Amino acid sequence: MPPSLTQRDLAVLWHPCGQMQDYHEFPPLEISSASGGWLTLTDGRRVFDAISSWWCKSLGHGHPRLREALIAQSTQFEHVILANTTNEPVVQFSERLLSAANGLPPNTWGSSAPLGRQAGHFGKVFFADNGSTAVEVAMKMAVQAQAQRGRPQRTRFAAFTHGYHGETVGALSVGDCGLYKDTFKSLLFPCTMLGPLPYRCGDLDPLWFDASAEWPAIQAQLHRITDDLAAIIYEPLLQGAGGMLLYSPDLLRRLRAWANAHHVLLIADEIAAGMGRCGAILASHHAGLDVLPDIAVLSKGLTGGFLPFATVLTTDAIYDTFLGDWASSRAFLHSNTYAGHALGVAVGLASLNAYAEEDVLNQVARNGPLLRQGLKQLAQQQPHYHNVRGLGMMAAVDLRRADGSPLNPANRTGWHVYRAAVERGALLRPLGDTLYLFPPLNTTPNEIAHALQALDDSVRAVLS
Ligand SMILES: Cc1ncc(COP(=O)(O)O)c(C=O)c1O
Repeated sequence: MPPSLTQRDLAVLWHPCGQMQDYHEFPPLEISSASGGWLTLTDGRRVFDAISSWWCKSLGHGHPRLREALIAQSTQFEHVILANTTNEPVVQFSERLLSAANGLPPNTWGSSAPLGRQAGHFGKVFFADNGSTAVEVAMKMAVQAQAQRGRPQRTRFAAFTHGYHGETVGALSVGDCGLYKDTFKSLLFPCTMLGPLPYRCGDLDPLWFDASAEWPAIQAQLHRITDDLAAIIYEPLLQGAGGMLLYSPDLLRRLRAWANAHHVLLIADEIAAGMGRCGAILASHHAGLDVLPDIAVLSKGLTGGFLPFATVLTTDAIYDTFLGDWASSRAFLHSNTYAGHALGVAVGLASLNAYAEEDVLNQVARNGPLLRQGLKQLAQQQPHYHNVRGLGMMAAVDLRRADGSPLNPANRTGWHVYRAAVERGALLRPLGDTLYLFPPLNTTPNEIAHALQALDDSVRAVLS
């Protein structure tokens, strides 16, 4: 008998972010194809991708427009060094992405958008090739900009408790997820973690737009480090890996005012929360277009999850601090081989077209609340569901004991729910004992109902 795919897999493959021994008990799912929200396994089963494959498949798998754009661009050129060269698609993509990030209406960044730059807060696009690297680009940009504004002592970062910014050493340093970070403590640089944050259950929370109770403590922490603070980095509104936590947009308004007064830069890591996930192209828009960050980092949904690709958007004011003759050493000397690769650009453009012309943000506004409402209804019948929350096309709930106390982490309830959910036709990937649904933005009401049912049946099967 030839070895099975699982046997061959386990002989050669080291899967990301997991204990490999687990796969001996519950083998990796064997994918044969994927379309829309659905994965088809080699044994014919269909499983709904309720986590958008690590939050990136904003338009579902195999979106026809994106696929066509990828194929068409590959017949022209797939990648040419972006230093020293330019091309029509990369310029057009930058123009249109800036318009979208500046909160302009879809007709200014869809396929019939006018050529040329439109006025708005963000003015320049820098390219990287994955989220973590783009976070590091943003941090380097902030430190260099501070130095070039005459504040070379400003090299410290502040970030938020429960934040997550990726896996490279710099990105881990500004993250606050001990599970991923603690082992590598010796490699990391110090970062001030601000908190507690004004956590809320979503935009229906009466205190959604009020962070007045939490702000004084955060401000006091900031005042202690102002003199050497380069930038504050945060996930706007939605902290993903730290537990799918939502906080008040009022905090971002307060941070903006404080940062302006103290010459500190703001970096919004929109990698998970952006590109429509929270109902707007940038989650930062929820705080108001008058308080946008100095730097915004995008990846994941930027190409509808087709390709590794990322952008760092910034203002003309920051960009201008990097101008000068060569001898001034002001240039931003960051390079990634695949920065701005043409395949990503082509799919990124097709993605913007799809967002604009398939009314994706309105689909989120219409159908996203079904996730929250559905979870809330389940929570009324289920004593184990605690703290239902949701925004845009995302909803989460913590599993607790019936008396409200935490489950024993050693029991790995979340992992057992993942296994049970696969048997019920849904791919979930709980964060500890936090369950969440984070499906493609164009998920239908029927698919939402399926995902909710699979989640609830799985919890019942595991906890009963
Ligand atoms: C908020 C946030 N920042 C950064 C990253 C890292 O992105 P990547 O996995 O592309 O390095 C992630 C990935 O999940 C993320 O959610």
